[in-house]
Amino acid sequence: ANNTATAIAHTNIALIKYWGKVNEQITIPYTGSISLTLDQFYTKTKVTFDPQLTADQLLVNGKIQTNLTKVSRVLNRVRQLAGSEKFAIIDSKNFVPTSAGFASSASAFAALAGASATAAGLSLTHQELSKLARLGSGSASRSIFGNFVEWLPGDNDDNSYAVPMTDVTLTDIAVIAVNINSQSKTISSSQGMQLSANTSPYYSEWQNVVARDLVNLKHALMTNDFALFGQISEANAMRMHALTLSSLPPFTYFEPGTLEVIETIQALRADGIECYYTIDAGPNVKVLTQTANLSLIKDHLVDQFGPSRISVAHPGPGIEILEHE
Ligand code: DP6
Repeated sequence: ANNTATAIAHTNIALIKYWGKVNEQITIPYTGSISLTLDQFYTKTKVTFDPQLTADQLLVNGKIQTNLTKVSRVLNRVRQLAGSEKFAIIDSKNFVPTSAGFASSASAFAALAGASATAAGLSLTHQELSKLARLGSGSASRSIFGNFVEWLPGDNDDNSYAVPMTDVTLTDIAVIAVNINSQSKTISSSQGMQLSANTSPYYSEWQNVVARDLVNLKHALMTNDFALFGQISEANAMRMHALTLSSLPPFTYFEPGTLEVIETIQALRADGIECYYTIDAGPNVKVLTQTANLSLIKDHLVDQFGPSRISVAHPGPGIEILEHE
């Protein structure tokens, strides 16, 4: 390597949610989580270490950024591992259309981990890259891998990382993203999850819920049981959002349009069309369905919300590192 490398990482949607950190400095979660990496939305990041620089420099979509707190956590670890003191220029581009309503932090920190480690001359395993990405953002630990991924919570810096799930037979999955609002949220996921962990009286029960959901979702994935997969994912998402409503002060990521999509999905289901939904730390809804019903549901959502708010994704790949670009 000549101090430079590029990486591409795709975003992921959590089916069993990560919501709360035992350790905020190194991102150790209270529970495990399971996600699906998606094919349509990704971040491409080029990192160059340069002895001339006196500080790290970050460009996102061509714009200089001033808050490098989370980026520095990743780069400082890379410098420590490589025994280097060089600063870096990071040029990051999101191919996560804001119109799709996906957060880009998962793909962004996964790509940063891959590009910066490679640029520093390290050859890390995917497991080590997952730990590195985790320092920037918890959900990024999962975007190192493709398809279904489980983040094993661990209890220290060395044993908290994601792994690709094996024995999955449920492969026919389509995700329809309904964008309700692409403005950035007023309560970040970091803030929201800490408020929930610290103040919701239901937080300890949430940990039991996740423990059960992890077991049952794995069963659904191994037995190709889409109905069970959908029911568990949907209930887990709603129970996460119940933590926001039960926090002090209470808050919610839902907007009126969020509830409209939920009602639409419930109505489709009442008509015998198999579909479920999940929602992350924002108002946008991701509909979970299968190939047979995809175009019918998509057409329905396009009619109701307009074509510019709807995008479709499928299971996507793990990180790709391009050394010489
Ligand atoms: C609701 O990974 O964005 O999407 O670790 O503070 O950066 P930080 O949080 P982040 O939180 C994701 C929250 C979630 C659930 C999930 O992705 O598991």
